[in-house]
Amino acid sequence: NLSGLDLRAEIDRLRKERNAVILAHYYQKPEIQDLADFVGDSLELSRKAADTDADVIAFCGVKFMAETAKILSPQKTVILPDMDAGCSLEDSCPPEQFKRFREAHPDHIALTYINCSAAVKALSDVIVTSSSAETIISQIPPEQKIIFGPDRHLGGYLNRKFGREMLLWPGVCIVHEAFSETELLKLKAQHPDAPVAAHPECPPHIIDHADYVGSTSGILQFAKSFPGDTLIVATEPHIIHQMELALPGKTFIGAPGADGNCNCNICPYMALNTMEKLYIALRDLEPRIEMEEGLRLAARKSLDRMLEMAS
Ligand code: 13P
Ligand code: SF4
Repeated sequence: NLSGLDLRAEIDRLRKERNAVILAHYYQKPEIQDLADFVGDSLELSRKAADTDADVIAFCGVKFMAETAKILSPQKTVILPDMDAGCSLEDSCPPEQFKRFREAHPDHIALTYINCSAAVKALSDVIVTSSSAETIISQIPPEQKIIFGPDRHLGGYLNRKFGREMLLWPGVCIVHEAFSETELLKLKAQHPDAPVAAHPECPPHIIDHADYVGSTSGILQFAKSFPGDTLIVATEPHIIHQMELALPGKTFIGAPGADGNCNCNICPYMALNTMEKLYIALRDLEPRIEMEEGLRLAARKSLDRMLEMAS
């Protein structure tokens, strides 16, 4: 029974005792973002995990992110408050099927979004995040054939922007898929001067209305620099917490789903992490990411290539 515990104070105590670093993604609840040592997008969190000298990485994000931390920092204990914090993109791409997709296209390289399992990373040539994908794709010769998975919307966006014909795996993010174009147009009509910032996991009918398209960190940078006073944000709405902290005088509105509000766009996997579960994870050093060394080394190659090409 945790009632009566000052969770924030207990988490701080355990973080020191364990020499732990708490990394959080922008889609985490505000109370978790506020106590994290670092909040960032997938690429930034990977770099932090690779560089930290802490003994324990408490990863407040989803499982593929915590696995990435373990792949890059195998000597650290990596804990994830809730092991069920998955991702619809990872679920869409079972390694066996992905292997067959690769084998069916032997003259293609596999460029793969970081939102996938370690086994799929091990079957890939280069990993990308939404903030590194454009830099990386522009280094690949135009004649090189590519398969891209598992996010068909990010892949489609890159195909359109770079004039490529990458073959796309049919996965989607259930969160970004839920934005409604009709409701977005109604919201734009109410705020005609407000730009729209969108994540490239959004489908094209949302991207088409965006003034800025980029990763969570990119969207946050855009929020800090756009000249107006209201911004429509087409990504998971918990990122608005950072915008409100940085720019208390401005208005940030989450893009709506079919029901006209943005609550249906909360990521159900990210939402599984709570202060209570983070406290228990730091106390017990469980749930913990474990990975077989052969798989880790195979997955590391494509991640290392991303880190080299993204810099
Ligand atoms: P980025 O933070 O890298 O933009 O990724 C968004 C996301 O969906 C993570 O699951
Ligand atoms: Fe996966 Fe989408 Fe949730 Fe990100 S927001 S973890 S891509 S389901």
